[in-house]
Amino acid sequence: MSSITPIITVDGPSGCGKGTLSVFLAKKLGWHLLDSGALYRVLSLAAKLHAVRLDNHSALEVLGQHLDVCFEFDENTNVIHAVLEGQDITHEIRTESCGSDASKIAAIPGVRKALFERQRAFLESPGLIADGRDMGTVIFPEAQLKLFLDADPAIRAKRRFNQLQAMGVNANLDDLFLEINQRDIRDRQRTISPLVPAEDAIIIDTSNLSIEEVVARSMALVGGVFPDVLMNQKKRTGG
Ligand code: C5P
Repeated sequence: MSSITPIITVDGPSGCGKGTLSVFLAKKLGWHLLDSGALYRVLSLAAKLHAVRLDNHSALEVLGQHLDVCFEFDENTNVIHAVLEGQDITHEIRTESCGSDASKIAAIPGVRKALFERQRAFLESPGLIADGRDMGTVIFPEAQLKLFLDADPAIRAKRRFNQLQAMGVNANLDDLFLEINQRDIRDRQRTISPLVPAEDAIIIDTSNLSIEEVVARSMALVGGVFPDVLMNQKKRTGG
């Protein structure tokens, strides 16, 4: 295998299954995982804690540059814990209002610039799974495999609803549907790093697929692009 650190990007809108797929791939391959959406969510929460308004672009940019955050992956629960300034804020950042604030600040060019290097720093041996909206287009354009997951908005709202319920977070399905549509419009139409598939991305419509089917399709693609990685993984786990 070449000495270049391999990257798989998993982009797509909220509720398309990319988070679940990314965790699966990272565990299966033993690679690092970047949940870039969590960074935008953490920044929006930090803004609240420090009383920075979401329309104060320069202050948000400075906050983004100095964000004191770390992520710890719990292999047993598959949860990525987010720790902001020493406080575990894993649950706080998963609310819909935090997601909505995150998508507002994510449209600010200075904020995206402030978080660019931080995201690049996740690229470490033996490999990286990068989950987000612009992983394949802007942050890791050199990725060897780019997946773009999509699904019908009503199905994504239902999935999000189930996810939030499982996490013990209260939610209303109709509100979630509206919220997802609003977030889609903002993410797809913003001028900087909009949510679009990279030209060389492989698009998977997950509307009528189970997570097992999405995983199976993705693993077939991984095997095609990284045959050595898959072989080594099988040797490691005896699978
Ligand atoms: O993926 P998640 O729902 O956690 O992302 C929250 C918001 O952060 C998205 O709606 C999007 O606006 C923004 N985001 C982004 N670029 C990324 C990841 C997330 O703009 N790479």
